[in-house]
Amino acid sequence: MYTKEEQNLMAEAKEAAKHAYSPYSKFKVGAALITQKGNIYKGANVENASYSLCICAERNAATQAVFHNDLDLKTIAIYVDSDISFPPCGACRQFLSEFSNDLQVIFFNDKESKKVSLSELLPYSFKLFY
Ligand code: THU
Repeated sequence: MYTKEEQNLMAEAKEAAKHAYSPYSKFKVGAALITQKGNIYKGANVENASYSLCICAERNAATQAVFHNDLDLKTIAIYVDSDISFPPCGACRQFLSEFSNDLQVIFFNDKESKKVSLSELLPYSFKLFY
């Protein structure tokens, strides 16, 4: 069901979750994405006492790719160390759509996993550059 590349990305996402700073929610989220060039970038969620400033793992991973001017995202794997697994939040869906044509999104925990495309998660996304 998952290619070797995707399985590797999932392992990287699980590793990334260890770097979360989440003393408030206690959700440790890790994201690993691979670009069309084949490079991998990772991120974890970072929370703040001023709760609305929390940054999701997905956006932290995407900003790493942008920092390296590697703007064409192919697949992102998102792991959460919890009983419930969740797809990217709405803000992350929009953020990721800026840098992909049709990103594959894998979200999983230790019990289950799902693979969907970003266009399924965010149809009619808002874009100024195509
Ligand atoms: N979180 C993510 O990292 N990604 C998402 O797509 C949803 C939520 C984080 C933010 C916060 O640190 C914690 O999970 C609970 O919302």
